[in-house]
Amino acid sequence: MAKKLGAAIMGAGWVSGEHVRAYQANPNVDVVAVGSRRLATAKAKAAELGLDVPCYEDYDKLLADPNVDIVSVCSPGGVHVEQGVKAAQAGKHVLMEKPMCVDLDGAKKLRDAVAKAGVRSVVSFVLRWNPLINIIKNQLADNAVGKIMYGEFAYFHAIGPWYPGFEHYCSKEGTGNAMLCGGCHAVDAMRYFMQDKIVEVTAYSTRSDEPPFDKIQYDPTIVAICRWAGGAVTKVACSFECNCPYMFDILLMGTKGTIRDNRYYGDKCLGTFGHPEIGRGQYDWVTWPTILPDSGDVSHHPFQGEIDHLVECIQAGRESHVNVADAYDTHELCIAATLSAERGEPVKLPL
Ligand SMILES: NC(=O)c1ccc[n+]([C@@H]2O[C@H](COP(=O)([O-])OP(=O)(O)OC[C@H]3O[C@@H](n4cnc5c(N)ncnc54)[C@H](OP(=O)(O)O)[C@@H]3O)[C@@H](O)[C@H]2O)c1
Repeated sequence: MAKKLGAAIMGAGWVSGEHVRAYQANPNVDVVAVGSRRLATAKAKAAELGLDVPCYEDYDKLLADPNVDIVSVCSPGGVHVEQGVKAAQAGKHVLMEKPMCVDLDGAKKLRDAVAKAGVRSVVSFVLRWNPLINIIKNQLADNAVGKIMYGEFAYFHAIGPWYPGFEHYCSKEGTGNAMLCGGCHAVDAMRYFMQDKIVEVTAYSTRSDEPPFDKIQYDPTIVAICRWAGGAVTKVACSFECNCPYMFDILLMGTKGTIRDNRYYGDKCLGTFGHPEIGRGQYDWVTWPTILPDSGDVSHHPFQGEIDHLVECIQAGRESHVNVADAYDTHELCIAATLSAERGEPVKLPL
């Protein structure tokens, strides 16, 4: 049996507990350290999770700990590049919470450092392990939609002072912009399904300026239209100043069928049983009963799948489908869309 890997978290807040629980449930990993900006926070998280491990406020000391093989970077977005680059340079594998950066320069630095160090990386687009996202991915591989010509994707999540991390989610320094803060989940799902490159984006953004959303330093509502190399067009939207339950919308329209969230209409369900005179057998959507990406609560997110995947990648010496190099394109689109909204003109990619 391969040696167990040692995992550490850096940034002992809300999401870090889910990382720890998932590492603890993986038989090939031990959680060996907890770090945070303040030692008291690291110690409190370790106690909450029943961990008797070294706690650090000095990140360099955490990285120097020989038991640490993997670092889960769970701090606010504004320090992710610095912490991810240092971890890679120390030879540690990294699980980067999103956003992995707050600007393009940071995205490049992190991408280059991870590539140079040759460590494994996963960026926490955890919905790639959501059952509905998996079903859709399998249906696309089975050609249920055919050539995709149009798609719509959205992340609508009301955040306010009640939300953990509201302070860093509100600031440009802490999270970059609305697309990087949360819309990146919708952008990542869109890219995962489309399997193509975006060549141009045009976006518009807005704000209400009503409390509590007036605290948000960037426009908390943005919509972007993307043109893809293969000819498709898609729309991706994000809002934090909405008054609705958490919503994650998916629409994929192609030559052979359409997927709308967990519903399908198309050629796979013709069902005329050899009697074409009765027309299409299917006259309405079929529904896949499954777990939807319909909650903003981290305890609902499939971190177990994500962390088991990272461990498999490390042990097999294989690159993840959602490594830093792949996630670079998601972050680039988030940055390009915001630039387009600010400049009032289309932006071509790559930047
Ligand atoms: N993938 C997902 O679905 C998902 C879900 C939720 C959150 N996230 C991401 O995870 C990250 C953390 O979010 P969260 O909701 O867990 O926030 P949070 O509850 O505010 O936790 C962040 C923690 O980091 C610590 N911290 C602050 N500055 C630090 C620094 N410079 N170095 C190390 N630790 C620092 C803070 O504690 P002290 O300052 O007291 O040490 C705080 O407890 C964000 O990037 C967020 O976008 C991702």
